[in-house]
Amino acid sequence: MPDSLRVHARRLDYKRLFPSLLSSHQTFLTLIWTAGFILVALWQKTAVDRLLTYHDQRFFPPPRPIPKLRRLAFNLADFGAVGDGVYLNTMAFERAISEIRKRGGGQLNVGPGLWLTAPFNLTSHMTLFLAENAVILGIDDENYWPLMPPLPSYGYGRERPGPRYGSLIHGQNLKDVVITGHNGTINGQGKAWWEKYRKNRLNHTRGPLVQIMWSRDIVISHITLRDSPFWTLHPYDCQNVTIRNVTILAPSSEAPNTDGIDPDSCENMIIEDSYISVGDDGIAVKSGWDQYGIAYGRPSTNIVIRNLIVRSMISAGVSIGSEMSGGVSNITVENLLVWNSKRGIRIKTSAGRGGYVRNISYQNLTFENVRVGIVIKTDYNEHPDEGFDPNALPVIEDISFTSIHGQGIRIPVRIYGSREIPVRNVTFRGMLVGITYKKKHIFQCSYVHGRAIGKIFPVPCENLDVYDEMERLVRLGTAQNSTDTDYDA
Ligand SMILES: *[C@@H]1O[C@H](CO)[C@@H](O)[C@H](O)[C@H]1NC(C)=O
Ligand SMILES: *[C@@H]1O[C@H](CO)[C@@H](O)[C@H](O)[C@H]1NC(C)=O
Ligand SMILES: *[C@@H]1O[C@H](CO)[C@@H](O)[C@H](O)[C@H]1NC(C)=O
Ligand SMILES: *[C@@H]1O[C@H](CO)[C@@H](O)[C@H](O)[C@H]1NC(C)=O
Ligand SMILES: *[C@@H]1O[C@H](CO)[C@@H](O)[C@H](O)[C@H]1NC(C)=O
Ligand SMILES: *[C@@H]1O[C@H](CO)[C@@H](O)[C@H](O)[C@H]1NC(C)=O
Ligand SMILES: *[C@@H]1O[C@H](CO)[C@@H](O)[C@H](O)[C@H]1NC(C)=O
Ligand SMILES: *[C@@H]1O[C@H](CO)[C@@H](O)[C@H](O)[C@H]1NC(C)=O
Ligand SMILES: *[C@@H]1O[C@H](CO)[C@@H](O)[C@H](O)[C@H]1NC(C)=O
Ligand SMILES: *[C@@H]1O[C@H](CO)[C@@H](O)[C@H](O)[C@H]1NC(C)=O
Repeated sequence: MPDSLRVHARRLDYKRLFPSLLSSHQTFLTLIWTAGFILVALWQKTAVDRLLTYHDQRFFPPPRPIPKLRRLAFNLADFGAVGDGVYLNTMAFERAISEIRKRGGGQLNVGPGLWLTAPFNLTSHMTLFLAENAVILGIDDENYWPLMPPLPSYGYGRERPGPRYGSLIHGQNLKDVVITGHNGTINGQGKAWWEKYRKNRLNHTRGPLVQIMWSRDIVISHITLRDSPFWTLHPYDCQNVTIRNVTILAPSSEAPNTDGIDPDSCENMIIEDSYISVGDDGIAVKSGWDQYGIAYGRPSTNIVIRNLIVRSMISAGVSIGSEMSGGVSNITVENLLVWNSKRGIRIKTSAGRGGYVRNISYQNLTFENVRVGIVIKTDYNEHPDEGFDPNALPVIEDISFTSIHGQGIRIPVRIYGSREIPVRNVTFRGMLVGITYKKKHIFQCSYVHGRAIGKIFPVPCENLDVYDEMERLVRLGTAQNSTDTDYDA
């Protein structure tokens, strides 16, 4: 029987049944049953509608309109890009950015989706806008990553001699570049890189996620950067850089060298209102490596780092060095919370670096469950090659710590200067931290000159001059050039 007839037959059956039901004494019950059935059906339909709406909001939110931040705006999808996580969109990025370059600037909108790509270059006067749920995915096959000459102030790739991999998102000699969005993500898929690095399968230094070199007027805000192969965000020899309200994530262990932000030979920079949890230093201010950094001679200076929450189980919340051969000065770090970390803040250097770390001011630091709060280390002996000059001694001076709080700290302070590299003019003003390790010498110093002002707990090392809250001298340091430390701690 053809389908149409079969349906017809069923309808006929139903019609034949219906009058017999009406004529029976069960008519009333039938009507009640039918009404009940309709009500249940209606209720189910609304419930399903409600469920769909709920899903809509959770998984398919109405796209937030993308603001127009430049006169010209383009959509990546209009350049042949496919956001399925499989299609390789390098050409689409290159075509779009080349169009922006030709037009003298513009905005590139990356909509929701997984946009797999190999490394590409930015251009001047451009805004890269990452919509909510937009993810730029770095391809994790190194054959797609171009090699670049080593950074001049490092002489070498940082971990292998010779050239290095470029960064996923790269820029050189640019002006006026913005990377922002509705908290879209740039994901470096670092896992494959970390494993290859550990198994010694890479012949070149891994690339950063975002690296901007020799550029000025850069703003990076309201985005998430995650799982970089190497350092996450690396501004190199740049001026006027603002990094605001970013989230930087990498696994807290087994993600080697995934520093959050590495301002390197940069001037006039601000990093604020951000959350960083990574597998190495949260922030590491640098300026080149030994003889190469000395020759390049570009300091990192006038940098403000504030209102951050940082976790670094492997290293420190905010570091300076160890590569600081071009000098680091005029740095302010304030309103910083470091939690569940190995160290709170650290300055690291060694003989051979040359340069200086000078006029560094830390204010309102909070450490929660941090093994060592404040560290200055002068024997970080990691050199590019045998060509370094062991007599190139860094200068460390004019460092101040104001209002240090915290709890769950094992060693609050460990400042190890040396005869060659003494730490000069350190000031502590107000410190109260809860300690977990009740030994005598937990405020540790060697070759340190400076003062402790006001209430300081735990009791400062003997090396420091002690002043009361009114800055009246209480006692002079007894042993500036001695070692008041307990190396077992
Ligand atoms: C980006 O620009 C740099 C400098 O011009 C160049 O060396 C590099 O190959 C470019 N990278 C890509 C992916 O085109
Ligand atoms: C941005 O996204 C990250 C990762 O999904 C999330 O942890 C963070 O809270 C988000 N930030 C904002 C401001 O929504
Ligand atoms: C590394 O170099 C060796 C020797 O030149 C070569 O055999 C190997 O294929 C290279 N590995 C990679 C991942 O490029
Ligand atoms: C710094 O960069 C921002 C953003 O591009 C720009 O608005 C500002 O004028 C620049 N400031 C200086 C002093 O160059
Ligand atoms: C980042 O920006 C978002 C959205 O504007 C805001 O809700 C959030 O509080 C900001 N985060 C920080 C740490 O300022
Ligand atoms: C540090 O700041 C002071 C005062 O603003 C300025 O005179 C000095 O030149 C700055 N140092 C560097 C290296 O820029
Ligand atoms: C130290 O740096 C701060 C900025 O961080 C600056 O205002 C101050 O003038 C500098 N002091 C000296 C002596 O350079
Ligand atoms: C100190 O920093 C914390 C964040 O770690 C912040 O909540 C607090 O307001 C800051 N205190 C002052 C006096 O700025
Ligand atoms: C010591 O450092 C402080 C800043 O931490 C600075 O104000 C002061 O001038 C320095 N003292 C000497 C003698 O250089
Ligand atoms: C401590 O040693 C430094 C050099 O290492 C020297 O300049 C300084 O005068 C010494 N201070 C004292 C009190 O001996």
